[in-house]
Amino acid sequence: MMREVSTASAVDWQAETVLDSTIGFQRPPSAQATEPQRIFLTGATGFLGAYLLDELLRTSKADIYCLVREDERARAAQRLRTHLERLGLWDGSREGRIIPIAGDLAMPLLGLSRSRFDALAEQLDVIYHNGGHVNFFLPYAALKAANVLGTQEILRLAAYGQTKPVHYTSSMAVFFGRTHIDAGRVSELDTPVLDPGLKSGYVRSKWVAEQLVLTARERGLPAAIYRTIRITGHSRTGVTSNWTDLLNRLLKGCILLGSYPSLTIDVPMLPVDYVSRAMICLSRQARSLGRAFHLFHPRPIPWRELVCMVRASGYPLVERGYDQWLLELKRAAAADHPERESLAQLWLLLMSPNSLLVKKPQYDAPNAREGLEGTGIVCPPIDEALVAAYVSFLRTAGYLPPPST
Ligand SMILES: NC(=O)c1ccc[n+]([C@@H]2O[C@H](COP(=O)([O-])OP(=O)(O)OC[C@H]3O[C@@H](n4cnc5c(N)ncnc54)[C@H](OP(=O)(O)O)[C@@H]3O)[C@@H](O)[C@H]2O)c1
Repeated sequence: MMREVSTASAVDWQAETVLDSTIGFQRPPSAQATEPQRIFLTGATGFLGAYLLDELLRTSKADIYCLVREDERARAAQRLRTHLERLGLWDGSREGRIIPIAGDLAMPLLGLSRSRFDALAEQLDVIYHNGGHVNFFLPYAALKAANVLGTQEILRLAAYGQTKPVHYTSSMAVFFGRTHIDAGRVSELDTPVLDPGLKSGYVRSKWVAEQLVLTARERGLPAAIYRTIRITGHSRTGVTSNWTDLLNRLLKGCILLGSYPSLTIDVPMLPVDYVSRAMICLSRQARSLGRAFHLFHPRPIPWRELVCMVRASGYPLVERGYDQWLLELKRAAAADHPERESLAQLWLLLMSPNSLLVKKPQYDAPNAREGLEGTGIVCPPIDEALVAAYVSFLRTAGYLPPPST
């Protein structure tokens, strides 16, 4: 579903969504698709990916083949280990089940030799494609290789040998175009529409990648799509590795300036442990293949309430009109401020197409509701305890300055 889009770069979006015609899914899916022995996972050195890896290790007996952006296996293994250790997820007893694969989403055949690619394609039972270049500054052209062509290579891997189901991590932001905002509500049955309202190159790359997955599905691939809203730290420990997230940057900017902008927005947040548990639980259900799932918080927090909770953690913040606050931010970023780099990045993020201030449609999620019913997997409330855990982790990690009171 595509509306005509005019952009300065005049990308032919129709052409972008064409899946290589040699990718087809004639062979039946792996018999092990729901009780897999060998799982392929991308993005395990990232935030959500580490928790997906942990959940897969915890809830299955499978070996997890992790694609890591390195040129050598030992370095890939070390990267994974260091990352899991930082997040408190490392468990040496499971090390033998983590199989690092040095490669690159942005390269043909994922940067693997033809024989390695073919051998993997024969071995794997299921694929979780979660990796991608998450960057709100870069244009579509710079993100295409990893996010779009990388997804095409994943679909090629799924097609070769026995057909392997694909679980693809997408974003609710693919619905932030005008069409869906005007419609008011989006459901898991809706196909995201690209229109001029969808400005971010990153979100466009996620949109194109989804179209490729949908085309593969039409060609016979069993695939599920998980669209998630902003993922935040662990609900108990507050742990995150997502330092460049706009919300973290915004809270840090407010604390550094001692003020916050007056905004009448609801802030979407979804703890990473909830997202990973929900995704893996849904992915284990055979009926999930062919479906999309929306993962969002049923009660996002109003910005002012969030600020009150941050204040309660010891940061006295005063309110400013949005324009005045932006001006203060710009001045501080240009001045000799010790954190000017961080403030300048926040300024640039707020000036670039971002999803914070965008009006959003309402979401519906009957598929996710049905799939998670009775599983005990429920979204934790966004309350004082959660925000205090987030602030405490960010402070202990040295990301936030110590509170003044
Ligand atoms: N975080 C959110 O709020 C959010 C919301 C909606 C959807 N999502 C989606 O969730 C997924 C995970 O996001 P995240 O927040 O966990 O992102 P992240 O922390 O930036 O992790 C991205 C992962 O993808 C890997 N990657 C990037 N380019 C690669 C390449 N060329 N080859 C191989 N691996 C590559 C990264 O590897 P390196 O470590 O080498 O960089 C990293 O492991 C993404 O698909 C994202 O679009 C995230």
